[in-house]
Amino acid sequence: MSTTTVGKPIPKSGAPAHRTRVYNDIFEMLPDVDNPSPMVRINRLNPVKSFQLFAKLEWLNPLGSVKDRAAWQMIRDLEERGELGDGRGIVEPTSGNTGISLAALAGARGYSTRAVVPNKVPKEKKILLKIFGAELDVVNDALCPAPGLGDGSINLAKTHAKAARDKYVMPNQYENQKNVEAHLKTTGPEIWKQTEGEVTHVFTSLGTCGTVTGLSRYLKKKDANIRIYAVQPTEGHDVPGLRNISQLEASKLFDPSLIDEILEIDYELAYTRAMELCQKEGLMAGPSSGLIFEGATRVLQNEREGCGVMIFCDNIFKYASNMALHLKDLGEGLEPR
Ligand SMILES: Cc1ncc(COP(=O)(O)O)c(C=O)c1O
Repeated sequence: MSTTTVGKPIPKSGAPAHRTRVYNDIFEMLPDVDNPSPMVRINRLNPVKSFQLFAKLEWLNPLGSVKDRAAWQMIRDLEERGELGDGRGIVEPTSGNTGISLAALAGARGYSTRAVVPNKVPKEKKILLKIFGAELDVVNDALCPAPGLGDGSINLAKTHAKAARDKYVMPNQYENQKNVEAHLKTTGPEIWKQTEGEVTHVFTSLGTCGTVTGLSRYLKKKDANIRIYAVQPTEGHDVPGLRNISQLEASKLFDPSLIDEILEIDYELAYTRAMELCQKEGLMAGPSSGLIFEGATRVLQNEREGCGVMIFCDNIFKYASNMALHLKDLGEGLEPR
C-alpha cells in the first residue's frame, strides 16, 4: 500500500505493482510480503465506523485458501531434505484445503498426493481433491482430524507412510513447524506492511493453529500491544478446518501464550454471517470467515478506534452444499415447478 496510509481510501490511479505482474509459474504467485494476499475494508457491515476493519482475502491465493502458505513451505522443506521424487509422493490427513494446496503444488512439481479425509468434509472439497490429482481415502473421523484415534485420518496417513516408505512421505501439518514458519515469514510480515504498522487487532480461527502461532509470533515482536483473537465454533460444529476449544490440545502447534482471547461462537452463525458478507459486502466469504467476522464484531462493541485484520481463510464455493443444509431457503426453488 505504498500509495496511501491505511486510514485513507486508495486512489484509483495507485494500483499496486503486482496487479500488472506476469508470473512464470504457479509458485511465483504464492503470497509473500512483496505479493501479499489483498486486504479489503469492511464497509456496510462495520458496526463501529471509527474502527477500521479489514478482511485479508486468502481465497485469492493461487489454490484458493490460506493453506497455500503452509503447503508450499512443507513441500520445499521436503524437497530440500531429498524426501520427494524418484516415485515418492505425499500422504497427508486433511479437512480439504491443505490437501488441495498440496495436491496442486506437488502435481506441478511432478509428485503424487494421497489425501486422507474425514467423511464429513463437504463433497465439493472431496471432488476438488480428485480434480487436482489426489488419490482419496475417506474415513469416519472428526472434521478436523485428531491424533491418537486408531482408525482416524492422521493414523491412517501415518500407516500409509510407514507401510510404503518408498511411495510416501507425510508432511503432517498438525506437527510440522514449517506450517508455523509459513505464517511467521509471510502472513505476519504482510499484515504489518499492508497496515503500515497500524494494526491493533488480528482475528483468526484455529485448526492446526499454524496461522495464529506464526502470525502472532511475528506481530507481537513488532508491537507487543497488538491483540490476537481466535474465534472457535461451539461443540458439534461442522465447519471444516476448525477445532472447538475442547479439541485444541490435539494441535501440537497451539501456543495459548500467543493468543489474547479465544471467543467461542455458535457455529450456525458461521453460515449466516458468511451469507451476509456475500450479500452486503460482495465478499465470497466461507463459513470460517463468517465465524471470524462474528467474533470481530463482538470485540468491536467495546472498542472505538483501532485497525483490525480478519484472516478470511477460503471462499464460499466449496461449501455451497453445506450452506444449503444450514440455510434451508437456499435449497428451495432449484428445480422447475
Ligand atoms: C477454512 C479454514 N479456516 C481456518 C483454518 C485454520 O487454519 P490453521 O490450520 O492454520 O489453524 C483452516 C485450516 O485448515 C481452514 O481450512
